[in-house]
Amino acid sequence: MSEAALEGYVRINREKGRFMVDKRAFYDQALFERERAYIFDRCWLYVAHESEVALPGSFLTRQVGSYSILFNKDRDGGIHAYHNLCTHRGVLLSTEKCGRGNTFSCPYHGWVFDAKGKLLDQGARSGYPPGFNEDGTYNLHPVPRLEQYGGFYFMNMNPRAVSLEKYLAGAKEWIDLIIDQNERGLEVTPGEQEFRVNFNWKSITENQIDSYHGPSLHSTYFQYAAKRAGDTPQQQAAAYAGGGFAFGNGHGGFELGIKVGKPVADWIPAFGEETRPLIETKKAEILAKWGEERGTRMTTRTRNLLIFPNTILNDVLSLSIRTSYPESATSSRSNIWSLVPVGEDPLVRKVRLQNHLTFVGPGGFAHPDDYEMFDRRAIADHQSPPFLHDYSKGMYPGYAEDFMVNVGDQSDEAQHRAWWTQWDRMLRGEETMEG
Ligand code: FES
Ligand SMILES: [Fe+2]
Repeated sequence: MSEAALEGYVRINREKGRFMVDKRAFYDQALFERERAYIFDRCWLYVAHESEVALPGSFLTRQVGSYSILFNKDRDGGIHAYHNLCTHRGVLLSTEKCGRGNTFSCPYHGWVFDAKGKLLDQGARSGYPPGFNEDGTYNLHPVPRLEQYGGFYFMNMNPRAVSLEKYLAGAKEWIDLIIDQNERGLEVTPGEQEFRVNFNWKSITENQIDSYHGPSLHSTYFQYAAKRAGDTPQQQAAAYAGGGFAFGNGHGGFELGIKVGKPVADWIPAFGEETRPLIETKKAEILAKWGEERGTRMTTRTRNLLIFPNTILNDVLSLSIRTSYPESATSSRSNIWSLVPVGEDPLVRKVRLQNHLTFVGPGGFAHPDDYEMFDRRAIADHQSPPFLHDYSKGMYPGYAEDFMVNVGDQSDEAQHRAWWTQWDRMLRGEETMEG
């Protein structure tokens, strides 16, 4: 794709206060190829949470970007991410979603690798000279970079990429607000939700930091949530006030004061009287440890964080991790994992998982509404003349602020403008996230 062809996807007019994105960004196949090389192969991409390989010898396989990844823990506690392919003739090494094992055997010709990626055996009595693989060429191929922040493991295909910590920039503060909710740490529950859909991955991604659509598209849910929390719609509307934030490097999110109850430490009657002392004790602990201001944010406010380009952390009435990856310009795969506090009381855990299914699950309040909008957009994008999607809310005429670190009302589109600005810069090669 030529540089000239990249012109005009993102159109900014500060004088008029307009931030627009060409609809072709949501279906152009050549652009999708460019995204793969210039964004997905240069950004830190979420692989897994450390709790998913808690025991030595445990492993999982996962599709990360365009790659099948084997993520595992060896006997000595080392955590690795390899390309899930046999180094003999490139056969997929493991087809298991997860499991235990200190070796990986390829069924084709019998090559065997240990958990540190070393080739142990070629399954042949002859044909290989002594010293074959002395230089390690035939060991499993690790991904170029694997780093973690707070137990969240990310990989990067660019060996020269900035460190994960530097990459996360201001987003770390919100990750910490999640991590610090439990002294004993967090863990991912077994299983996952997976969606394969026929629209562009960016529809899913940008929706996660879109607070604007909540009261209109999810009105049923908001009425239900208000009733459940014992709030009148008026009280709830007032609490909807919050903030939209851009954290640098394209990361952003929004935070709300709306009362939906949080199993970590914000009890509402719908959680049941039996959970009240447990949740209130936890709240008191968090407030004592982290202070009134931060503790209140952690316990009563909800937030959605998008780590550029596609890792989402939902700290709402449950905790979840979500990714959305393109399979083509017009098809995507999205995965959701539920994150829970280690050692949580089973009564509270039950409420948490019910909340997760009620809102996030495939038959929950949010998904069907949102996914119908993505479908409708995909249809309309194909059936309309040239068109620009609008991301101008909160941008006034003469706007002079830096899109990358902007702050606005929660329902403004400041967080979207940060994301699209990073997308545009990376796609053009102006930003490589190296350093
Ligand atoms: S392809 Fe794996 S052993 Fe030959
Ligand atoms: Fe939604």
